[in-house]
Amino acid sequence: MPSHLIVLAAGQGSRMMSDLPKVLHQVGHAPLFMHALQAGAALDPERRVLVAGHGADEVRAAAAEHDEDLVVVLQEEQLGTAHAVAQAREALQGANGDVFILYGDTPFIQPETLSMMAAARSGGAAVVVLGFEAADPGRYGRLVIEGGDLMRIVEHKETTEAERAITLCNSGVVCADAEVLFDLIDGVGNDNSSGEYYLTDIVGIARERGLRCAAVTCDESETMGINTRAELARAEAIFQARRRAAMLEDGVTLTAPETVFFAHDTHVGRDAVIEPHVVFGPGVTIESGATIRAFSHLEGCHVGARAVVGPYARLRPGAELGNDAKVGNFVEIKSAEIGEGAKINHLTYIGDAAVGEGANIGAGTVTCNYDGVFKHRTEIGARAFIGSSTMLVAPVRVGVEAMTASGSVITNDVPDGALGLGRSRQVVKEGLARKLMAKLKAAKMKRTN
Ligand code: UD1
Ligand code: CA
Repeated sequence: MPSHLIVLAAGQGSRMMSDLPKVLHQVGHAPLFMHALQAGAALDPERRVLVAGHGADEVRAAAAEHDEDLVVVLQEEQLGTAHAVAQAREALQGANGDVFILYGDTPFIQPETLSMMAAARSGGAAVVVLGFEAADPGRYGRLVIEGGDLMRIVEHKETTEAERAITLCNSGVVCADAEVLFDLIDGVGNDNSSGEYYLTDIVGIARERGLRCAAVTCDESETMGINTRAELARAEAIFQARRRAAMLEDGVTLTAPETVFFAHDTHVGRDAVIEPHVVFGPGVTIESGATIRAFSHLEGCHVGARAVVGPYARLRPGAELGNDAKVGNFVEIKSAEIGEGAKINHLTYIGDAAVGEGANIGAGTVTCNYDGVFKHRTEIGARAFIGSSTMLVAPVRVGVEAMTASGSVITNDVPDGALGLGRSRQVVKEGLARKLMAKLKAAKMKRTN
């Protein structure tokens, strides 16, 4: 049976105090709604629908950027969770199989939990709701269980005193057959104290129609929803803790795991070593046995096997380091392929460039890639030797096994095997240093007297 996902994300999230729609706030450099989708990915869903409302245009743009197969539908007015689900009706027209409803602001539902819900559906329950034992049930909807079956869900505002004592709460995640779900939604009214169409009403309606409903439970930590910046920060901490644990599990050495920050898509190979205080932006792959030394910042880059990066290095998007390459302290690399075993060890900027294998780039080298309007490329051949403090004024090419003299400003191509020398000739004045110093000291004596 195929599965489908509906992610509810129309709410404003006013407690975020933000101009950005809530589900576009990021955890691990991915918008919150992507985390909800990620949880559902294990179900291998056939159709996926995101219900947007507040900031729908921005949400639509982000969806297109991150996941072009995601269908975004609009809930113009936020009339309640059942009304939100109803907006997905057309997008799921003719779909057969189960629909899972998730919240865009609830990033930690585990794939295993959704599998348990699928199993409960196969076991004959028409509607399966994910519940949890709440430490503080507060404003959550309460699950009323009788004889092992879920009878109804009571929203906090509608509870009697006896119902408020129930600690089994509604996470919001619901699963039902597609056709049955929309039939039940049709039966939901808004005659309640909020005047909202409650999705939770479908349980009572299903029961009235003679359909069995069931609750599956998970740990409360999975159901954490993000409503405030403080909760967003806590979610980031939880995400990071999980990623660190997963990295250690997969054979990555983290000397001080709690100081390393990963993105949702960071890939690190076995036996790589990540030293303290390393930050990964999105789009980084580190191959096996590489070492990322302390205080480095990497994003959108690829680091080859056994390469060494840092300490204090910055790899920006498009940095591609070959196997065994070395990038040392205070080096920045952007949009550049660095060949196998090349060394760029100190105080250097390499941008829009190709560096051949085994090349050695001296300290303080700069690829002058930007003329204020256009970006230009620099090519450095295999085994070339770039003298310290060379300014490579792009577009320019230094050939295979070529050299540049220290302090050169290289504006013309240097052929293979040639030496490029672009600096003024040195002049030496015998004895002048001592003479000058004596003169200066005499001047100082005069002033202090
Ligand atoms: C909902 C549940 C409650 C549950 C709680 C768990 C209902 C009626 N109540 O309550 O039982 O314990 O979640 O957190 O379902 N949304 C829309 N459109 C709307 C309304 C909401 O897209 O018109 C989205 C929100 O963006 C959010 C989710 O649905 O992602 C839940 O909405 P929210 O208003 O937070 O529901 P609660 O009142 O907290
Ligand atoms: Ca909520």
